[in-house]
Amino acid sequence: MKKLLHPVILTIIMTALLLVLPYMLPSRVIKVFDDEQLRQVALSGNMLSIPTSYEKLLEVIDNPQNPMSKEKIALGKELFFDTLLSKDKSINCASCHVLEEGGDDNMAVAVGHQGRKNPFHLNSPTVLNAALAQSQFWNGSAIDVEEQAGGPIQAPFEMNMTPQEVEQRLNADSVYVAKFKAIFPQKKVTFENVRKAIGAYERTLLTRGAYDDFLDGNNSAMSPEAKRGMTLFMTKGCKGCHTGMSVGGQSVQKFPLRNYPSDYLGLLFSPDINLKNSPFPFENKGGFLGRNNILEFRVPILRNITKTAPYFHNGAEEELEEVVRIMSKYQIGEEFSPKQIDEVVAFFKTLEGELVKYEIK
Ligand code: HEC
Ligand code: HEC
Repeated sequence: MKKLLHPVILTIIMTALLLVLPYMLPSRVIKVFDDEQLRQVALSGNMLSIPTSYEKLLEVIDNPQNPMSKEKIALGKELFFDTLLSKDKSINCASCHVLEEGGDDNMAVAVGHQGRKNPFHLNSPTVLNAALAQSQFWNGSAIDVEEQAGGPIQAPFEMNMTPQEVEQRLNADSVYVAKFKAIFPQKKVTFENVRKAIGAYERTLLTRGAYDDFLDGNNSAMSPEAKRGMTLFMTKGCKGCHTGMSVGGQSVQKFPLRNYPSDYLGLLFSPDINLKNSPFPFENKGGFLGRNNILEFRVPILRNITKTAPYFHNGAEEELEEVVRIMSKYQIGEEFSPKQIDEVVAFFKTLEGELVKYEIK
């Protein structure tokens, strides 16, 4: 009798164990941190707060190949807002990167010279805090803001100029010539120095918000809900990609990381959504497939993310909640509950910030 019971009980125990095991795995456990522990998780992962003083800013962000100076930053600012850099003198950098509204244009796809849309249906990313990134553009193809600035000026669907045209126009303007001469060794305005001046200005476009105050020690800067969202973000794997002072921009990563055949099976029966040919969990508008066409994208910067809808490289998603759901399912393999999604969005609100008014010396 004993011998007979044994396997039966064993099977029951084994089945029960198998059923509860997934819930006991570390990744399923939701960590509870006190404020100091939560802060340390971020800080120890190099997720530091934005500097408040110009001296600190220089330590963090100055480029030895393009040292910042008061005059260079002022010149870069003037160029950033000057429509002279576009073919028909109607577009400036701020046309697509509105500093007061999250540093982007709030459109799904960027529209430039004579209403031309970005041919890959690319969404304008924010310029705010972009200087903190390790690479620029959705495929990470520019190494820094100085190199990046040459791109939009020349793109036929953005400002549509050649470097020679830019040089000619600026050299015909004696005020600009004098300003460049006072800063750079060259006698004339060069395209390279245009890029450098704009880059120096962009290095000052950093924003601070409640999240920074919390990192700096103010426990009441964030609500309990936002802290729970931040805990999820820090412990469930989001931080693995969206990291550093800019909360993103530090690496190029695969997206989507996971595939669920069931998604695509379901689509066979829903003719409304044209995702059958999309490698993404959203419409493949524009056909852009990232670096080397292998679904590798520069990880977006999440500072000010609540202000930069629509989302993803092609602007296919409007709702931040849906974006967080997609990320949790496809990037960390653990779909967040609606409550968890709200918590993460509450955390994202603390990443909203104001431009720091540096006392530039
Ligand atoms: C027509 C709209 C448009 C104009 C004008 C424009 N941009 Fe952009 N910007 C974009 C788009 C779209 C991208 C993404 C392109 C890509 O990834 O290939 C981008 C990317 C960037 C990035 C990279 C951000 C990141 O995190 O990767 C920076 C920085 C930037 N632009 C700065 C500028 C500057 C400086 C100017 C003016 C010289 C400018 N932009 C003009 C639309 C525009
Ligand atoms: C393996 C790296 C990786 C992980 C882990 C990851 N992300 Fe992302 N995330 C990306 C990439 C790459 C994109 C850009 C995808 C695209 O635009 O096609 C992105 C895009 C986003 C966006 C949209 C940004 C924008 O400007 O359009 C948000 C918001 C976001 N992620 C939040 C999260 C959250 C929350 C988590 C954790 C649940 C997470 N991510 C985990 C790599 C990652």
